[in-house]
Formats: sequence, C-alpha cells, structure tokens
Amino acid sequence: MKNIEKQIFNIGLIGLGNIGTKVAEELLQNDKFNQIFNLKTVLVRDLEKYYNLALKNKKFNVGNRKIAFDLVDVPEKIIEDENIDVVIELIGGVGPASEYVKKSLIAGKHVITANKELISKQIDELLHLSNKYNSKIKFEASVGAGIPIIELVLELSRQNQIRNIRGIINGTSNYILSKMSEDGSNFEDVLKEAQNLGFAESDPTNDVDGFDAKFKIAILGALAFKSEIPLESIYVDGIRGITNKDFEYAKELDLNIKLLAFAEKEGSTIFAKVHPILIPINDPMAKVDRNYNVIEIEGDLIGKLWIQGEGAGNNSTTSAVLGDLMSLFDSRQSDMLFLNQNLKIRTIDQDINKYYLRLVVVDQPGVLAQIAEIFSKNKISIASVIQKDLYPDNQFVDLVIMTHSSIEKNIQDVVKSISLLKVVQQDPLLIRVQN
Ligand SMILES: NC(=O)c1ccc[n+]([C@@H]2O[C@H](COP(=O)([O-])OP(=O)(O)OC[C@H]3O[C@@H](n4cnc5c(N)ncnc54)[C@H](OP(=O)(O)O)[C@@H]3O)[C@@H](O)[C@H]2O)c1
Repeated sequence: MKNIEKQIFNIGLIGLGNIGTKVAEELLQNDKFNQIFNLKTVLVRDLEKYYNLALKNKKFNVGNRKIAFDLVDVPEKIIEDENIDVVIELIGGVGPASEYVKKSLIAGKHVITANKELISKQIDELLHLSNKYNSKIKFEASVGAGIPIIELVLELSRQNQIRNIRGIINGTSNYILSKMSEDGSNFEDVLKEAQNLGFAESDPTNDVDGFDAKFKIAILGALAFKSEIPLESIYVDGIRGITNKDFEYAKELDLNIKLLAFAEKEGSTIFAKVHPILIPINDPMAKVDRNYNVIEIEGDLIGKLWIQGEGAGNNSTTSAVLGDLMSLFDSRQSDMLFLNQNLKIRTIDQDINKYYLRLVVVDQPGVLAQIAEIFSKNKISIASVIQKDLYPDNQFVDLVIMTHSSIEKNIQDVVKSISLLKVVQQDPLLIRVQN
C-alpha cells in the first residue's frame, strides 16, 4: 500500500464472524473492490470449522474443494507476510486483537478495525505506533457502524473548536427504550424481544449498562479534543432501573427517556459521561427511535450538526470497513493523526442538571417532610412533587420529585441519605433532565 505505484493490494483478514464474512464476500465478489484488492489470507481459530463453513459459502468456494484465500490459524502468516499490505481486524475485544494490531503496525502494514473496546482503551498508543512506523490505522466502523462519524469529527476538528458532542450511540438500548415508551412494555420483555430479533446479544451487559456507549464516546471525545479520555474517568449509568412507570410519568411531564453519551470541552478541561436523560418530547433527539443512532456535534464555526443512521448490522459495518479501505487506497501519506493535547478531565461531581427522582415510599404522614429535609440540607430546591396511586397492597406509593438545577455531588448525597430512610422501599431511581 505504501508503494503508490502498486496496482493490487493484498489483504489479511483476522476473524471470519458476522462482519468478517460480509467483508470477505464483498472483497471477492464486488467488482469495485476485487479489481484493486486481493483477499490473500484469513486468520481463524478453528481451521476445520471455518474451512467447512467457507466451502459452503458460494462466494468463497472456487471448486475442487478449494476456497479463494489461504485460511490459516497462525497469526504470523498474516503479520509476517511481507506481501500483505493491509490487515483488517474483526475479532473484537482487547486481547489478542491488541497484539495483532500493534505487530501489524510495527511491521509497516496499514490496519483497519471495527473494535471500539480496543480503540477506546489504547487509542493514544496505537496512533503513536501508526505515526512512528508510517502505517495507518483506520477505525470508522468502531462508532456508529456505517455512519461516517469518525471522518466527520476529524474533518470538523480541523477548522472548528468542537465544544461538545452528544448522541444516542447504542442501538440496542435505544430500541429497548423506544419500545418501552411506545407500548408500555417492561424492560425484561423488550430485552428478550431484542435478543430474538438479533438487536441484543445474549449477554446484554455492554449495551444496557452503558459500556458500549462509553467506549464510543471515549473515541469521539479523544478525536474531537485531541486528548485521551481514560475510560475510568467516564461516568456511566445504564437503563436497567428504568420501568414502564417512568415512561408513564415522563409522558405526563411532556418528556421522553433516552440513553445519551456526552463529551464536552470547556477551556482546558474535558468531560464525558453516559446516562439516561429526560428530554422534552419536542427535542428532535427524543424522536430518534428503534435501533437508530444519532450524533450531534457542536463547533464554533459549524454550529450544531447532526448525523443519523443505523449504528449496527453487517451491511452498515461492512460499508465502514470498506470505506476505510478505499480511503487508504486514495490516501495522502502525510495525513498523520496525533492526540497532542493533555487536557484536564472533569468528573461528573461538578455536573449541573435538573433531576427526576422516583421513590417508592410507605404511605404515611411525615414521609414527605423527612425527604424534603434531606433535599434542603443538601441545598437542592424541589420544583415539583407528584404522588401517584397506591400500589395494590395499599402500603406504598410512588413519589416523583423534580428538582431545579443542582450540582451532581449534592443529588448523589441526597440519593444516599434517602436510600437509608426506613420509609423508602427500594433504591431510588435518578434520571437527569435536559437543561
Ligand atoms: N456486529 C455489528 O453490528 C458490529 C457493528 C460495529 C462494530 N462491530 C465490531 O466488529 C467486530 C466483529 O464483530 P462481529 O459481529 O463480526 O463478531 P462475531 O460474529 O462474534 O465474530 C468474531 C469472530 O472472531 C473470531 N475470533 C475470535 N478470536 C479470534 C482469534 N484469536 N483468532 C481468529 N479469530 C478469532 C471468532 O471465531 P470463533 O468462532 O473461533 O469464536 C468469530 O468468528 C467487533 O470488534 C465488533 O465490536 C460489530
């Protein structure tokens, strides 16, 4: 690839799962790609399983019990092959993907990956290796699949001071929240449905607990602000505690609940977080439903800019991987990327929001007074209190408290103190409200 005169570029593909298979099919079958790229070698863990799978795939099968590429189970057959120009890593996770990616960069090969976990944890180190060895690393598919958000952030950050990014960047949790909002279904039922439809994995932790969105916002923030955002500095709260009652109450207040990721820069301080938030129903972001992703970027010159699309799936992700490949093919070698800022990180303690707090309390006199006293001690003023109907056992009621703007640390102290009250039945649910 470094030799611009070269006509055909050899590809080593690591991983033949969902995305790896689709990428291989396109490289072999699509005339746009097979004129320029040669899928030379594919690395798998289990040769027999994947040889048989590949033979069954009409797009890989070249007859005579042969397939169109070398199928190997030894990574050196890609990393140490001097004829391979580009390595496409599609196995996911940090180890051994990290080792394969680093060794490939050091060997002077360009790397394309869709691996958000790896990029978010090692972006600075990988960019340094890429610059040192003059080999590029591209990772468009790691955020928003086929939505060209990485290129967009890089492009805008050239001429703008990016001030903030906010977005719905996890399709699974957005699917769950929008179904709960639409038809009042409960979390567990919608999660099961999403798993059956293939939108959610059998272990949904990364999606519903906000970790997937955390990886992605760490990548977008680092590229926008040119400074690494350590994952441990990013506050994260998922959607498991949200019930259909919260949607019912939110609707009464003309609000909708979304899981949003944020990255912001103020002066020389940066901050990132992921949590559910109540948004006015007339905010366009409140209407982005199902498995769609949306990202809003605000820059000093561009103002606010939106991009929306399907943030997962074989076709969309393959589009991003092949887009990276094409851009390497056309690329200018001087286009180096560095994170050259070392900005201070702000934590969520100093964040200022309005809050929605739902409590299940014993229905008896004096309860409200105890709760109000805790708010007042922590200098938070209550905007409204709604008491809902009694639970069927006639002992408990839901209390929905909306606050005026307050510092996050104070509301966290309120939640801790309220949780200790005997009259409070279960852990309070706290949702931030968009200012
Ligand atoms: N699916 C999407 O919609 C989507 C969207 C955006 C980004 N991505 C990213 O794309 C990447 C691939 O995702 P996917 O959906 O294709 O996952 P997948 O279907 O689980 O495929 C992963 C493949 O990697 C193989 N593998 C694991 N460790 C390996 C190793 N050490 N050597 C060789 N092969 C190994 C697995 O093979 P075994 O059969 O041996 O386990 C499996 O075939 C991930 O980084 C993911 O985060 C996916």
